[in-house]
Order: sequence, then C-alpha cells, then structure tokens
Amino acid sequence: MKKKNIVFIAKSLDGFIAGKNGELDWLHSIPNPDNNDMGFNHLIDEIDAIVMGRTTFETVCGFEVDWPYRKHVFVLSNSLKNIPEKLEQKVTLINGTPQEILDQIYERGFFKLYIDGGRTIHNFIKEDLIDELRITTIPILLGGGFPLFGDLTNPMEFELIESKLFLNQIVQNHYKRRK
Ligand SMILES: NC(=O)c1ccc[n+]([C@@H]2O[C@H](COP(=O)([O-])OP(=O)(O)OC[C@H]3O[C@@H](n4cnc5c(N)ncnc54)[C@H](OP(=O)(O)O)[C@@H]3O)[C@@H](O)[C@H]2O)c1
Repeated sequence: MKKKNIVFIAKSLDGFIAGKNGELDWLHSIPNPDNNDMGFNHLIDEIDAIVMGRTTFETVCGFEVDWPYRKHVFVLSNSLKNIPEKLEQKVTLINGTPQEILDQIYERGFFKLYIDGGRTIHNFIKEDLIDELRITTIPILLGGGFPLFGDLTNPMEFELIESKLFLNQIVQNHYKRRK
C-alpha cells in the first residue's frame, strides 16, 4: 500500500495558521457565497485517516457544528487521557515520536494520512515525514500567532505540482517533497 503524508492547511500572507490567541476568523475574511471548500472534500476522499494535534482537536470540538470528519482521526496528545464518549468510534488518542505514531497507524491499516496542527506539522517536517504540502494563502497579515513553519537543521526542497486560484483572492499551492 502506498504511504503518503499530506499537509493541507491555510496560512496568512505572513505565514501564520492561527492568530496570537488562536483566532481563525480570518480564514473566512474573503466572501465565499457558494461555500467553495477549496479541495477539502477531495482531500478527505483521497486519504485513509487524519492525524491532528491536541490543540487542533480541541479547537474543532469547540466549533458549534457536528463532527466534521468522515475519516478516522488520530489525536496526538500526552495530556489527554480520554475523548468525549460521542467520538469514541471516530477518534483514537495516540502518542510517541512521529515515526512511532505512523507505525501504530499503519498497523491499523491506514496509509494515506492528512497531517494537521501547528506543532504536529513541525514535528513531522523535522523528521522529513511530509510528502506533500497543500498550502492555501489568505491575503491577510496577522502580525503574529502560530507559525506554519519552524526551524530546521537543513533546507528541504519541494517541487510545485499545481497552483490554483480561488475566489479571485486565495492562492493554493501543492508542493511535493523532492528527494
Ligand atoms: N489555518 C489552518 O488551516 C489551521 C489548521 C489546523 C490548526 N490550526 C490552528 O493552529 C493552532 C495549532 O496549535 P498547535 O501549534 O498547538 O498545534 P497542534 O499540533 O494542534 O497541537 C499540539 C499538541 O499536540 C500534541 N502532540 C503533538 N505531537 C505529539 C506527539 N508526537 N506525541 C504526543 N502528543 C503530541 C501535544 O499535546 P499535549 O500537550 O496534550 O501533549 C501538543 O501540545 C491551533 O490554534 C489550531 O486551531 C489552523
């Protein structure tokens, strides 16, 4: 089975994925009257499971909507001991190094993964475990917040495979890791 780890994320022009206090309202700063999902459902069709950090999980749980994912979600945490009862069939808690996490997920039969969350993405990138970056840039400067990228010991090259424009304002670039 082909293994693949994909990041699909929105960032501000200055590279933040959430504001200083975790704000996400800016993601909706461009009017989107037809609710264009900008490839999100296509991504979910493509993957087997989602891997997300605890902060992102708690953010999603705080939205006043039904659970939005139709694929299994693995939540990374050393502090959470259990998940809400209504999500027990849909969410599994997991921890370890990024490679240990992947090995545990592969054992359960999930191979194509969507990797989500700030520190979670940093940790996977540091270990060179990301195959594709699909980055949607919202034309706003936040001036601070949770950065998409962090320090690396060595540069990592990516190849642009596709670029799309949504709502005449939002650019989405797909990059593949060049190895
Ligand atoms: N713009 C977007 O498209 C977008 C997408 C996703 C998220 N966001 C936002 O970005 C922010 C991300 O927050 P964040 O940087 O804190 O990142 P995060 O990756 O969502 O969560 C970090 C937490 O995940 C857990 N974790 C990560 N790696 C782990 C590992 N290997 N083993 C065990 N636990 C691990 C730890 O939880 P414990 O502390 O419990 O151990 C850590 O504190 C949030 O505000 C979120 O809403 C934005």
